[in-house]
Amino acid sequence: MHTASNPVTQKIVAAVSWALGKSKTVGPKKIVELGSGDGNLASIIEDSTQETVTRTDLLSWFSGRFTNYEVVDMRALPYASASVDAVVSSFAIEYTRVGNDRRAYQEVNRVLKMGGSAVFLVHHSRSSIAAAPIDNFIASAARYALGIKPVQWFFLQSWFDSIEMAGRLCDSKKRAAYDSQSEVRRDLEAVGLQVVSIETADGPYILEMCRNLNPDKLLDSGWLVVAEKPYLNRAERRRR
Ligand SMILES: C[S@@+](CC[C@H](N)C(=O)[O-])C[C@H]1O[C@@H](n2cnc3c(N)ncnc32)[C@H](O)[C@@H]1O
Repeated sequence: MHTASNPVTQKIVAAVSWALGKSKTVGPKKIVELGSGDGNLASIIEDSTQETVTRTDLLSWFSGRFTNYEVVDMRALPYASASVDAVVSSFAIEYTRVGNDRRAYQEVNRVLKMGGSAVFLVHHSRSSIAAAPIDNFIASAARYALGIKPVQWFFLQSWFDSIEMAGRLCDSKKRAAYDSQSEVRRDLEAVGLQVVSIETADGPYILEMCRNLNPDKLLDSGWLVVAEKPYLNRAERRRR
């Protein structure tokens, strides 16, 4: 049984449960997590909502661990339009926004059903991860990759991928972190999503990938953002 053991995860789970509670879908709901990494958050959501979460990530690090883990670039989601009840992302979607790239946000809006919800935990620029020195981050990613992978050919590719990705994350993380809540709002509203709430989510929410970084400094913080894909009004419905 996976349980939410810290306030940040508890807030995420509560937001997803709220989203599912208001969903009009009868029967199992479609929930997709973007940039799942180790997939642990999805396991916690599954255990508390009794729904299945599709874990997705650009990297295949953890694909062997779960049957419902798909290697997916969130900027081009392989899901039908209006087919998903809730999209979740924890410290992941904001990494794609560097250079004003809103494709991942557009994709979220496209795949969500009307009334469907997005629950994002995003870094703000005061997050310890966003402020951590880049070399620490690379070293930690390297240690992590070495620690989890048996030295086998099979894994070498993903090992190199992980280092390359860590480098890219380091390069982009300062620009990825949000400076203000209005910036978050702008990214979501630009693609048609409606912001329901943005709240501070501080606490010992430790990224699996950064466990070796410096646990004392990883009492991390971010903003928990809940947004909705609005229903069309009557005029919009007529136009379609
Ligand atoms: C900082 S980690 C967060 C992992 C996990 N969600 C957590 O909270 O521990 C960011 C994750 O986003 C993934 N990611 C970055 N860009 C992506 C993209 N374009 N499509 C899918 N995943 C991506 C990375 O591979 C990485 O696993």
